[in-house]
Order: sequence, then structure tokens, then C-alpha cells
Amino acid sequence: MISAEQYGPWAIIAGGSEGIGACFAHRLAASGIHLILLARRVEPLERTADALRQEHGVEVRTLALDLSSPDALSRIRAISHDVEVGALIYNAGGAGNAAALVDQSPESALDNLHLNTSTPTALVQHFAKPMRDRGRGGILLIGSLGCIAGTKELAVYSAAKSYLLTFGEAIWAELTPHGVHSLVLVIGRTLTPALQRAGLGDTEDAPAADPEQMAALGLDNWNNGPVLVDPSHMQAFEAMRAMPRRKAVEIMVRSMEQQRKR
Ligand SMILES: NC(=O)c1ccc[n+]([C@@H]2O[C@H](COP(=O)([O-])OP(=O)(O)OC[C@H]3O[C@@H](n4cnc5c(N)ncnc54)[C@H](OP(=O)(O)O)[C@@H]3O)[C@@H](O)[C@H]2O)c1
Repeated sequence: MISAEQYGPWAIIAGGSEGIGACFAHRLAASGIHLILLARRVEPLERTADALRQEHGVEVRTLALDLSSPDALSRIRAISHDVEVGALIYNAGGAGNAAALVDQSPESALDNLHLNTSTPTALVQHFAKPMRDRGRGGILLIGSLGCIAGTKELAVYSAAKSYLLTFGEAIWAELTPHGVHSLVLVIGRTLTPALQRAGLGDTEDAPAADPEQMAALGLDNWNNGPVLVDPSHMQAFEAMRAMPRRKAVEIMVRSMEQQRKR
């Protein structure tokens, strides 16, 4: 388990109010690490922050913001400038509203692009520099199996998660020699509140992964980068990456259609 001595006294979790993000928060807080939690909705954010303070006695700061907005970095800098942030977990990814690209508003398509590409890039750049200078720290990005191949009705999301994977590999190569751990945790269907709100929750024939287990997997393997695929999906991940692209896209489309029918 990560300690405050290992990475530093504070961690920031983008998308830390519920689901896997809240599981990360509880695990870090149990090690005495203070937290900055980011998400859009105030109520789940404050509920999680209160629980962390009461259960673990750590300091928790919250910032309600949309991570896809252009002022995200400046607002995050303002709330974190006076503390030593030793760990950044970027969990927010919002597969959210699946729809054909041409049926989406230009704003919503680009929002997901920023959420999974430009904002994590800006946050990693901002927080990794002092980590590199201190010779310690951790960056953890939450990826998706959706990155293996282009996915119908999730065009921006699947492409953006592909960016995140490659970006994470590159920063691992840049930061590892300086003592900073970097990992992209690639997960499949996981039983989060967002998944349930999208009507894609657990079913008997296809149980979704447990968010607690996914958070534990990421934290236990933080120094095992650049990429860790949930072992229960590793074989499919490797097989699909090696396939002709048309076949991989067809499998991905079929799998998403089956999930939506359940
Ligand atoms: N659940 C799955 O089946 C699954 C499968 C593969 C990969 N993943 C990845 O796992 C991560 C977590 O997924 P999730 O299912 O918990 O859904 P999520 O919609 O990414 O929500 C996770 C957290 O991020 C926050 N968030 C989402 N969009 C945000 C935005 N635009 N600005 C600020 N905060 C935002 C949410 O709070 P608010 O809604 O209040 O903002 C919540 O705290 C994501 O990166 C996702 O791509 C999930």
C-alpha cells in the first residue's frame, strides 16, 4: 500500500466522488494521505469528502468543476498550489451518452475528447514536474478496453482512451528514471454508479468488475507500469490488438451491442 512518505502528503483524484475514484480515495486516506477531490456534482463530492474526514481523519479539499472545460487547469492550480501533491489519479472518463458521432452536438463530442486527452495531459504536465524534481511521486490514469478498437457510438471515447494509453506509456518512459511511478490501468465493465445510471449495470450472465478490486489492482501495481490490463481481460486485449483491424472493430461493435441488449 502507498504511504505518504513514498509519494508525498497529498493526492489529487480527478473523478474522485464515486465509483472507482472514491475507492482510490478511501484507500489513500487509510494510509494518511490528504486528498483533493474533483468532480462535477457537489453532493456526491461532499458526501465522499465527509466520509473520508470522519473515517480516516485526513484533510480533504473538494472542487466541483467540469474537467472538460478550458479553465480546469487554472482552477485546479488555485486549489492545490500551497500543498505538495505527490500523486495524481485521473479517473474521470465518462463513457456516458453513447450515440453516433453525427447525432451528437459538436460540444458533447468535444467535451469527451478534452476529458480524456487535453485535460489529463495538462494535469500530468503540471503535477509531474515537481514530482520529477523531488524524485518521487505517482501518476495513475484509468484506461478502458474500449481503446483496443474503434467502437460504434463511442467514437470519441474509444479514440481518446487510445490516446491516453499511448500518452501514459510515454510519460512512464520519461518519469521512471526520475523515481516517479506511472501506470495506465486498463479496465473493462465495472459496476460504478455511472455504469448503472447508463442502464448497463450487473447482469447474471455478465457480471461487471468490482470497483474496489479495480482500485486495489491499480494501487498494488502503481510501480508496475507502463500499462496494466485487468488480468481477466488480458487474453482478449492481446488477441484483439494482434487481429486485422476490421475483425477487431467488428468484435468490439458486437460486444457493445450485446451489452446494451442485456
Ligand atoms: N464503468 C465501466 O464499466 C468502465 C469500463 C471501462 C473503463 N472505465 C473507466 O473508468 C473510469 C471511471 O468510470 P465511471 O464508470 O466511474 O464513470 P465516470 O463518468 O468517468 O465517473 C467517474 C468520476 O468522474 C467524475 N466525472 C465524470 N465526468 C466528469 C467531468 N466531465 N468533469 C469532472 N468530473 C467528472 C464523476 O463525477 P460527476 O459525474 O459528478 O462529475 C465521478 O466522480 C473512467 O475513466 C472510465 O472511462 C469504466
